[in-house]
Amino acid sequence: MDPVLPMPRGCDDRCMSVLPSPEEKPRAVRTMFDRIAPRYDRLNRILTGGSDLRWRRELVRRLAIRPGDRVLDLACGTGDFAAIAVAAGAEVVGLDFAGRMLALAQRRGVPRTEWVQGDALRLPFADVSFDAALCGFALRNFAALPPVFAELARVLRPGGRLGLLEVDEPANPLFRAGHRLYFRRVVPVVGGWLSGDRQAYRYLPQSAVYLPDARTLAGWLREAGFRDIRKRQFMFGAIQAISAVRA
Ligand SMILES: C[S@@+](CC[C@H](N)C(=O)[O-])C[C@H]1O[C@@H](n2cnc3c(N)ncnc32)[C@H](O)[C@@H]1O
Repeated sequence: MDPVLPMPRGCDDRCMSVLPSPEEKPRAVRTMFDRIAPRYDRLNRILTGGSDLRWRRELVRRLAIRPGDRVLDLACGTGDFAAIAVAAGAEVVGLDFAGRMLALAQRRGVPRTEWVQGDALRLPFADVSFDAALCGFALRNFAALPPVFAELARVLRPGGRLGLLEVDEPANPLFRAGHRLYFRRVVPVVGGWLSGDRQAYRYLPQSAVYLPDARTLAGWLREAGFRDIRKRQFMFGAIQAISAVRA
């Protein structure tokens, strides 16, 4: 892949960084997801024990997505969030820059969906054109977060709801130790083995270093124009679900 970088925070000497340079990140991320697209859903189900669908449904419920809502699934990948929002009655636009992930989303044949290839940092949508937006496990993958939040604020109507799902780290030391063992040691081995792409599943835990702490994230959301920012955790704190409202 890309030039090996300095060791990220949280990596010890057994963990050589596979993180791309900032300039290379968008291309590296896009080609990685294009590469793993056919195995992406299966690996998600296996590595989360099927719980990711429950977290997604819970966030869609919390945003009160209802019939008639126009919802953006940002960095939609293979369209898991989109399918759940459609089941709640919404019309969904899924956007992703990886063509092979999008092709799989399209192949699901979910009604009331439109799939758009594009960049989260420059959304090809009019101002105030969505009632809600969802984004699953993609924050780590963007080149920068404030411009993405600014774009989300631009395309959501006032009162529009935002839901973000991401990995997190448990606060409890015991759970944190167990989580580190699983996320940093088991996931790269099992994910690499099952997907045949060791680099992608080493990137997964290492990319957590791109996530800011909760206070910084909330600050960026507020600066972009969001209020009522709330965080909930699943899986003993290993997963975070953030909701916010466009001011
Ligand atoms: C971990 S996957 C998550 C997919 C899906 N949201 C889910 O919950 O399963 C991250 C996705 O973000 C997409 N992505 C990353 N950066 C992007 C960008 N700047 N614009 C659009 N899509 C992006 C990748 O192509 C990939 O499909």
